Amino acid sequence: MSGNILFLVPRLLFIPIFLVILKRTYSLVRNYIQARKLGIPIIVIPLSWQDREWLLFRPFFKWIDSVPVLGYWYKYSELGWTMHHRYRPHQKYGDAFAIVSPSSVLVQINDPQAGTVLQRDYKIWTKPPTLYEIFNLYGKNLVSVNGEDWQRHRRIVNPAFREQNNKMVWEESLRQADQMLELRTRRPKDSNHVGGDGKEGKVGDERGGDGKATMADLFTDFHLLAMHVLSAAGFGHLHDFSSGLQEVPPGKTKSFSGALNFVLMNVLPVMIFGPMKLPRFLTWPKFRETQAAVKDLREYLAETVSYTRATTQSGGGGGGGGKQQAADIATALIEADEAAKREDRRQQQTNKSLSGGGGTGGGKPNYLSDSELFGNLYAFNVAGFDTTAGTLCYATPFLAVNPQIQEWVGEEIDSVFGSSNPPPLSSDYETTFPKLTRCLAVMHETLRLWGPLPEMARFAAGDGQHLRVGGDGKVIWVPKEVYVSTNFFGIHTDPRFWGPAGLEWKPERWIVRDPDTGVEAIRTPKGGTFLAWSHGPRVCPGRKFSQVEFVAVLATLLYRYRLKPWVVPGTEMRTQNDASEALMLAVNDSQFSLTTKMARPEKAGVVIVPR
Ligand code: HEM
Ligand SMILES: *[C@@H]1O[C@H](CO)[C@@H](O)[C@H](O)[C@H]1NC(C)=O
Ligand SMILES: *[C@@H]1O[C@H](CO)[C@@H](O)[C@H](O)[C@H]1NC(C)=O
Repeated sequence: MSGNILFLVPRLLFIPIFLVILKRTYSLVRNYIQARKLGIPIIVIPLSWQDREWLLFRPFFKWIDSVPVLGYWYKYSELGWTMHHRYRPHQKYGDAFAIVSPSSVLVQINDPQAGTVLQRDYKIWTKPPTLYEIFNLYGKNLVSVNGEDWQRHRRIVNPAFREQNNKMVWEESLRQADQMLELRTRRPKDSNHVGGDGKEGKVGDERGGDGKATMADLFTDFHLLAMHVLSAAGFGHLHDFSSGLQEVPPGKTKSFSGALNFVLMNVLPVMIFGPMKLPRFLTWPKFRETQAAVKDLREYLAETVSYTRATTQSGGGGGGGGKQQAADIATALIEADEAAKREDRRQQQTNKSLSGGGGTGGGKPNYLSDSELFGNLYAFNVAGFDTTAGTLCYATPFLAVNPQIQEWVGEEIDSVFGSSNPPPLSSDYETTFPKLTRCLAVMHETLRLWGPLPEMARFAAGDGQHLRVGGDGKVIWVPKEVYVSTNFFGIHTDPRFWGPAGLEWKPERWIVRDPDTGVEAIRTPKGGTFLAWSHGPRVCPGRKFSQVEFVAVLATLLYRYRLKPWVVPGTEMRTQNDASEALMLAVNDSQFSLTTKMARPEKAGVVIVPR
């Protein structure tokens, strides 16, 4: 009898597993039938990046990739696979093919025209809600909303991104870059420390100086720098590079930078634990840390809003106390929102008197609710610092292994900041920034290959939409809830648009030179072949912000220093060649987590040498 029961247990365990497999097979077949109707090549994969559990275990199954024939699907199960394979799968399967998994049908697009349409026609091609969940932590916002709601958000947000603000970005970026480089390169007091133990951590006292830094160190530096620039130009709070946002005020568990970094680096736990309510005895340390960080950040945002409201109201009446200028984004946004509120109230009054007092005031509001205001301020933080910091991180190794490009950019920098002109730190935004074209070319080229977003997915509005793909004018019918993803990294490197050296980093390709005047400008790539900041009405509003920041940092760096590959101690590197190789390997070894990031940045480094 008991023997029988023991015999049964494994069979009972088998039942739930069997049911899961049955359900997944059913979903896969259903999705496959749907994908067949698209009339494009299909790749079937049993597990995808949309299976969150798979994302956790995926690294342990790397061997699948090398299994002949049967291992083909492994590479497509990674979120951001295109950073490793680019346009190549499209050469085999065409400009549109479908990846079918039990979770979804995902159409991968490698055609600039179709890509342009997908980014531009925002009412027809909408943002899939699940992919933008992380942006909604504190309320709906510009990044996540669709359709008419989006128009309302964008109308209020747009005026905040203005030249007055870019001037602030310029000045603060120069100041931060100067302090960062000073700290990185100054002789350490006791030279026991060598920079770069590969650990991310607090910047400052324990840092070694002497110019040596792993990519992990620079990741920390550039993120802190970008956060400080955003804090100043976005929120009107100035800090020094070495301390600033790393201080923990009373009543909080983390500093502003700590809380924001934590939330961004722990996207999954934040989304799962953030809104969860549990009695304390049922919680565990990571859960409590997550909830505290989410709460801290909410309080920081609330403080910004109430501070700004108080100062704009008093400032609006003239006088304005100690407030010098209201060029930061938060102030401009809150001002624009207050103006929209007043306009709404005025209209309501008019409507009331027109309809003889019987007006219901039924029109939709044109301003942002408090939760939407929070949502937008948080979204600026998410969209506005990791992106630019990441671009700086990727530019560094390429510059280090290409000394001739450093000289080429340096030539421009020397001509702009030559002996009779002020150095970067005291330069004037309006006259200086437009002259630093080669610096901007470095940014474009870095974004082309290693921008923060390798691809971007959309849903068809309504029951479905037609999409024209490829030069031969093939039209596919995309039903609702089928993901259509523009392969940015594919389009950005495809030899049809970028020539045979499309995968190589060559900033010169971005420069056009006027043969008469010798003036250089950034080349405008042919329609839709460069989409790093998206395109059309939903183009990144922070484009110029990020350009000004990047150029200011690069100019400060190359004005005084040059980068060299670093033979990192404790690794297998021996020669300069090894160090260069390691840098390029560290770049290739990237993964997608919120944005494109190096997976093992501690494995390579650079030395910042005075020229
Ligand atoms: C190198 C730097 C940057 C890159 C490559 C970049 C790229 C992009 C892209 C591709 C989009 C479209 C996203 C989508 O359709 O889902 C976008 C949207 C957005 N970006 Fe940026 N961005 C950068 C920097 C910034 C900065 C500095 C800010 C703000 C300070 C910012 C704020 C936003 C916002 C608010 C949106 C949403 C716009 C809308 O949907 O109407 N970005 N960005
Ligand atoms: C007032 O009336 C106009 C025109 O009928 C309408 O567009 C608007 O939404 C109304 N405004 C409010 C606040 O009710
Ligand atoms: C990195 O990837 C590029 C493009 O696929 C390739 O050409 C290059 O050889 C790789 N570099 C290293 C060091 O593996």
